[in-house]
Amino acid sequence: MSKKTFIGSDIPIDEDTTMSMLNSDPAAVYRRLRKKTPIVRLKAIGRIVFTKADDVRRVKMDTEHFGSNDVTTPMQRAFGGHTLMRKDGCEHLREREAMKRTFEPSCLSSYWKSEFEYLTDELLDELALNKTVDLLTAFAQPLSARYLKIVLGIQDVSDEQLFSWATALITGAMNTSLNKEIFDISDKKNKEMNDCFDQLIANKNMDYSVLASMLSHTHPIEVSQIRTNMKICIGGAVIETRDALLSTLFGLLTQPKQIQYCIDQNDWTGACTEGLRWVAPIQASPRIVRKSLIMRGMFIPKGETVMAIQASANYDEQIWKNPHLFDVRRKPKDNQTFGDGSHKCLGGDMYRMLIGKVVIPKLFARFPGLSLKNKGLVEFRGFAFRGPTSLLVSLV
Ligand code: HEM
Repeated sequence: MSKKTFIGSDIPIDEDTTMSMLNSDPAAVYRRLRKKTPIVRLKAIGRIVFTKADDVRRVKMDTEHFGSNDVTTPMQRAFGGHTLMRKDGCEHLREREAMKRTFEPSCLSSYWKSEFEYLTDELLDELALNKTVDLLTAFAQPLSARYLKIVLGIQDVSDEQLFSWATALITGAMNTSLNKEIFDISDKKNKEMNDCFDQLIANKNMDYSVLASMLSHTHPIEVSQIRTNMKICIGGAVIETRDALLSTLFGLLTQPKQIQYCIDQNDWTGACTEGLRWVAPIQASPRIVRKSLIMRGMFIPKGETVMAIQASANYDEQIWKNPHLFDVRRKPKDNQTFGDGSHKCLGGDMYRMLIGKVVIPKLFARFPGLSLKNKGLVEFRGFAFRGPTSLLVSLV
């Protein structure tokens, strides 16, 4: 449909925002955009962005106007195939259904919880050998790698290899300039992953893992899709779990009264949810405009790739009071860190159980004197993916 059939103004262009501003302080950029130009074309990233909570949610829910199947992004190239995350309708649902068993509430409580308790205890024993540590390398990173390996069914992969796969996938997915060296690395890592998955598929090891769920599903999906959807769980969860845990711990450690509040309530779920809201590990998600439309009086043309900024939705002043403050006592409201609609994160409840019910309570019970070593020096980085670059603490 042409613009003539719509009465809408052109989307304003923001030329002031730089990549460096988006990397160092995205919250300040989005605060300005929400106030002045909530739908805007950001020249720095060459995309239309949506920053208000209602609009971000609409982009995820309104599948008549917004789709996920955007073949202009480098994602297919980086993942060596077309993942469920970039498919629409029945084609998407079929692949999502094949993974679901692993994440069902009964499976979380009757199977995964005790597995997670066991591996958290093991890691806390290792941590106790130190007095001062960087929680990124000594705790959050190995925890994230080890729980995901059992969840995915790839136990024999090393922690380092899993992180190298995750890094190659997300760097490749963001390679909009189509840099050859970046794709060479993702190609190499794709081969390593495919070889690993193919061997496990041949062995048919049946447990509650994502791999086993896909293999044993009543309507099996193709091996090519088993491979690429395993990669979605790697690229979308390994670094994100690490980052979300660290952001939450940083928030708590800067607010000792809130730690005491959680101890008194014997409930850390508010802390886990607030950490997810405060710094969304995946700050933005792309969609393609399937049908032209008007939003906030502006013409959004068919064929454009747009970004729904969930990090900005989580700070929308119309919903959240003092959104920049970490506050575990906030009333539970749906933040948008795990997305919404048909592509809403499959692993969200699993993450909340792992971190809110197992890891954080055990960490503070084991180290009651846990405190920050460098409060003023903790640095957060990243525009698309975001978290602290280190978290130095004293354990005693
Ligand atoms: C803090 C950790 C995590 C964050 C912040 C996160 C975030 C997200 C987001 C925002 C989406 C939606 C993307 C979109 O709409 O385009 C998503 C989808 C997805 N996530 Fe997560 N995720 C996390 C952990 C996990 C875990 C632990 C798993 C599995 C082990 C997982 C598996 C998936 C899958 C399979 C999808 C695709 C769903 C679909 O397209 O139907 N995620 N995640």
